[in-house]
Amino acid sequence: MNTFKNKWIWITGASSGLGKAMAIALAEEGAHLILSARSEEKLHQVAESCQGSGKKHILPLDLTQSDSFQEKVNKALSYGGYVDIIINNGGISQRALAVETQPSVSRELFEVNFFGTIELTRLLLPSMLERKSGHIVTISSIVGKFGSPKRSSYSASKHALHGYFDSLRFEVEPDGIDVTLLCPGFIQTDISKNALTADGQPQNTMDEKTAQGLTTDQFASRVLKAIRNKKKEANIGKYEIMGVYMKRFLPGLFRKILAKSEVT
Ligand SMILES: NC(=O)c1ccc[n+]([C@@H]2O[C@H](COP(=O)([O-])OP(=O)(O)OC[C@H]3O[C@@H](n4cnc5c(N)ncnc54)[C@H](OP(=O)(O)O)[C@@H]3O)[C@@H](O)[C@H]2O)c1
Repeated sequence: MNTFKNKWIWITGASSGLGKAMAIALAEEGAHLILSARSEEKLHQVAESCQGSGKKHILPLDLTQSDSFQEKVNKALSYGGYVDIIINNGGISQRALAVETQPSVSRELFEVNFFGTIELTRLLLPSMLERKSGHIVTISSIVGKFGSPKRSSYSASKHALHGYFDSLRFEVEPDGIDVTLLCPGFIQTDISKNALTADGQPQNTMDEKTAQGLTTDQFASRVLKAIRNKKKEANIGKYEIMGVYMKRFLPGLFRKILAKSEVT
């Protein structure tokens, strides 16, 4: 059985990287797609790359502009009458020491990664509750499970997602709504180029570990499997996902290893 055929799937952060790869993979499965991010031009390019029998709609959206969300949700619901799956993927990272990171930068990271994500979900929820069906998928990070140098506010914003969506799951699961948190390790995208430095400027360089990570295609195929299996949580990456287990079972050793490793 094809889980995704004719399903209405809304992806944020669909203009590049993981969002683009998930859109292409889901289109191949016959899903109808609603693609959101700020860059309308890039969203059109992604829609053109999506091969499949499903419909494709572009819905530009800025996760820092929560005033626009009700209108965006109404529009998303107008395409097919409902949204089966929302993939909360839009996000930005950080490359700066905590002491140097300006408060405005920490707030921007939380606005995009946390507040924008939870408010968009909250406004979509009534339609899922009414149908007693839906799946909320949120892209966190392995640093949503442990802290890392130069990622203080980013890591905090991803940790916050776990507190929120783990709580939400208890409230909506009895109504037939699934909640999945996915924690990527290093995946080959522009995440490190777009990451904010201390004053909010993008880093503009590719991190070596990101360049050596999983490809976006490998990531997307694992995401589809996790959604299909209605996983509550999954870590997706190479060796680095061991950190999640080490933090839990060998926290002292893990701290020593991370303290010695070179983090860019
Ligand atoms: N790649 C990795 O190694 C990795 C690891 C762990 C977690 N992640 C997570 O994966 C998600 C996707 O990142 P990526 O790796 O694909 O990086 P990316 O290529 O930089 O993509 C980020 C996406 O988020 C969108 N976005 C950024 N700010 C936004 C805003 N204010 N409003 C709406 N959309 C916004 C961007 O689109 P526009 O600029 O067009 O708005 C883009 O589509 C993020 O949540 C990231 O934290 C990635």
